[in-house]
Amino acid sequence: MKLQVNIQILQLSFLALLFFTPLLHKTISSAPFAAVLHLLSANLRLSLSCTICTFISIFYYFYTRPSQVYMLNYTCYKPPPHRKCSYQVAENFVSRNAQFTEKTLDFMRNIYLKSGLGDETYGPAFIFEEDGVPTLNYAMQEAEEGIFSSIDALLLKTLIDPQSIDIVIVTSGSFSPTPSLSSLILNHYILKPDVKTYNLSGMGCSSGVISMDFAAEILRSSRKIQNVLVVVTESITLNWYSGDNRPMLVTNCIFRVGCAAALITNDPSHRRVAKMELVDSLRTHDGADDGAYRAAFQEEDEKGINGISLTKDLIRVAGMSLRKHIKILAPRVLPLSQIVHYAYSVVSAKFWGDESKPIVPDFKTAFEHICIHTGGRAVIENVARVLKLDDEVIEPARMTLNRFGNTSSSLVFYELAYFEAKKRAKMGDRMWMLAFGTGFKVGSLVWKWLQNSSQEFDNPWNDCIQNYPLKT
Ligand SMILES: *[C@@H]1O[C@H](CO)[C@@H](O)[C@H](O)[C@H]1NC(C)=O
Ligand SMILES: *[C@@H]1O[C@H](CO)[C@@H](O)[C@H](O)[C@H]1NC(C)=O
Ligand SMILES: *[C@@H]1O[C@H](CO)[C@@H](O)[C@H](O)[C@H]1NC(C)=O
Ligand SMILES: *[C@@H]1O[C@H](CO)[C@@H](O)[C@H](O)[C@H]1NC(C)=O
Repeated sequence: MKLQVNIQILQLSFLALLFFTPLLHKTISSAPFAAVLHLLSANLRLSLSCTICTFISIFYYFYTRPSQVYMLNYTCYKPPPHRKCSYQVAENFVSRNAQFTEKTLDFMRNIYLKSGLGDETYGPAFIFEEDGVPTLNYAMQEAEEGIFSSIDALLLKTLIDPQSIDIVIVTSGSFSPTPSLSSLILNHYILKPDVKTYNLSGMGCSSGVISMDFAAEILRSSRKIQNVLVVVTESITLNWYSGDNRPMLVTNCIFRVGCAAALITNDPSHRRVAKMELVDSLRTHDGADDGAYRAAFQEEDEKGINGISLTKDLIRVAGMSLRKHIKILAPRVLPLSQIVHYAYSVVSAKFWGDESKPIVPDFKTAFEHICIHTGGRAVIENVARVLKLDDEVIEPARMTLNRFGNTSSSLVFYELAYFEAKKRAKMGDRMWMLAFGTGFKVGSLVWKWLQNSSQEFDNPWNDCIQNYPLKT
């Protein structure tokens, strides 16, 4: 990017030079002081035109360079304590509902106990009700509770007037009511009539990262100062599956309630108060591969019951997609010494037939913190294996999964809040946010902290952070 800008500047300077030299020459020679000026050396004329070129280039550079993108602040929704879904609550709910066979129940217990989820995750409203039926009304209730409470808190924190929001991006992994969730927000907060809304649905678990990348894309190329409200939600109510197909039952065990909202801006005057700056973002997609495409898939089982099936293949696919992803990301973020080291290992493998596995670049040299999408225990472990990360680095991911479960796309924000509650991030630190989603997609955001992290009043970990990290 930088290189490209520099080349453009050079080209422009050269053109300007060509254009201005004869012009200067002409004005000077026709001026009344022509005789005096004529005495001035050609050198002066040259340096004059150079100065003009420099001014033009500087102007051009500042005018065309992409805007910086900042995250002002963010919030995570914390459901009320009576929605806590412990193992016992889940057990009571499924045995109360006579829809499952004993074999299915055993399978679910087994998955639950191995899932890495603790006893404090939050379940959707319907499982606490007498009838226990996942209706559209409960799904709407779940979406509204999460969305309104996180936006309310965000507006309060940032002191941003809803009227100054220019763009709204709402994303949900799979829930998509009519009219859209973005209309719901528009209607509730009475945003200005020319606000641009986007609703991204069906983007899976990586949609949190995708919508941030999308917001950044709009802001970087925008010549206007704009504020973007990004809402990352999911309503798991309608994902409840009541059949006997095993891959589809997995979702019942690990999906939990969660929602997050963030304010993104390209207003340079906010740099001093913003929390983080987005330095880079990358998205890769493996949908062309059939295995990857079907690894997490919504379909009907033999009895025509709708569900999302998560196959064992998901883990393999995640590893494969991640390897492809880091091949592109590595040269953009790693320090030179690591790149040289990596290139050397590849070359030596080629020439000396050293067939040992190609070395994995050490991402800890590029980032102080890594925030990994925590969809499931197996996924976290696999990411750690592929990237050769030790337990300490994946601790926030494991703890977030334990405390909040798989909340789909908003997970990365709960994990971000963990770093803050632990006051781990310092001003200037770099953070890699990595998320996976159906499709199969991998998304990365590279942030730079502009503040020291602090434990804010609405951090979702506030009441329990002292108990973490848990011992394994
Ligand atoms: C986005 O809008 C379309 C059209 O109104 C709707 O079908 C879809 O469900 C919406 N998605 C979300 C996430 O609200
Ligand atoms: C985010 O909001 C909190 C209030 O909860 C405030 O204390 C904090 O300073 C804000 N952070 C930034 C970077 O503005
Ligand atoms: C987490 O939940 C999402 C949907 O909400 C699903 O697509 C994803 O596969 C789950 N992650 C894992 C590892 O099961
Ligand atoms: C951030 O923390 C570091 C070390 O803990 C401290 O030296 C620095 O002054 C802090 N910066 C701000 C802006 O508070």
